[in-house]
Amino acid sequence: MITNPMIETLMNRKSVRKYTDRKLSTEELETIVRAGQQAPFASQLYSVIYSTEGPIAFGAPIWFVICVDVHRLERFMKLRGWDIVTSDLTLLLLGMQDAAYMAENMVMAAESLGIGSCFLGAVSSSAARIEALSERFGLPDRVLPMVELVMGYPDEDFPPRPRYPLAFTLFENRYPELSDDDVKEAMKVMDDGYLKQGYYRRQNVKIQVEDGRSDDYTFDNYSWTEHISRKWGQWARSPDELLDALKDRGFSLFKD
Ligand SMILES: Cc1cc2nc3c(=O)[nH]c(=O)nc-3n(C[C@H](O)[C@H](O)[C@H](O)COP(=O)(O)O)c2cc1C
Repeated sequence: MITNPMIETLMNRKSVRKYTDRKLSTEELETIVRAGQQAPFASQLYSVIYSTEGPIAFGAPIWFVICVDVHRLERFMKLRGWDIVTSDLTLLLLGMQDAAYMAENMVMAAESLGIGSCFLGAVSSSAARIEALSERFGLPDRVLPMVELVMGYPDEDFPPRPRYPLAFTLFENRYPELSDDDVKEAMKVMDDGYLKQGYYRRQNVKIQVEDGRSDDYTFDNYSWTEHISRKWGQWARSPDELLDALKDRGFSLFKD
């Protein structure tokens, strides 16, 4: 693999869940967000709210809410005498991408300054979290919290976490037929990598099984693929509350 300072920074980034008390300067904050803005965009369908008022997750000194924002687009189109006719589904799909690329640019800009970060994804499954953030920050209609992001100077240092092997991710010309052995090989890379770091043991995180099946996993064998299976095999089954929360934010995914 080629290396240069940028690639090294990308390869060494990891989510940070313990921070020192050191605050970010205004210049650091503005540099990070300005660099975030320089990400590719479909229509700059995002805005970023920040707060330094605690308590903030993982003891971080600063907290961002990255929002999909159609409000400002509507405002300027109105000034030009236009109404949006594009469906909210398309606007949300594009807005999610605009906001995500911008957020990741922020993460990497911060990383290059020695500032760590961690995303928090509660809004993707919790209508209550969407409502709480919208209320707290006075979000207008057509602004939807997409993800939360905390940042600060790291007070922990671990090796980067594993990823699927490239051969399980990058396919030339045609999506391959994956055998169970191919899948198992990728699972092993992930599980062995997380176990080697004692990732779940250190965080003392183990999702409980809710359906009565037996659970004989310990931190010696509970790893990433079991964790993820327990998450998406048990959580957030119904979309109803989220769809209602989207509606409350002024987005409708259904034909009227
Ligand atoms: C959309 C999204 C939501 C996330 N939500 C959480 C979260 O709620 N809590 C948390 O501790 N980490 C969260 N993370 C961080 C991931 O757990 C982390 O990126 C992943 O385990 C890979 O580890 P790494 O970032 O250290 O490489 C989230 C990341 C993303 C992209």
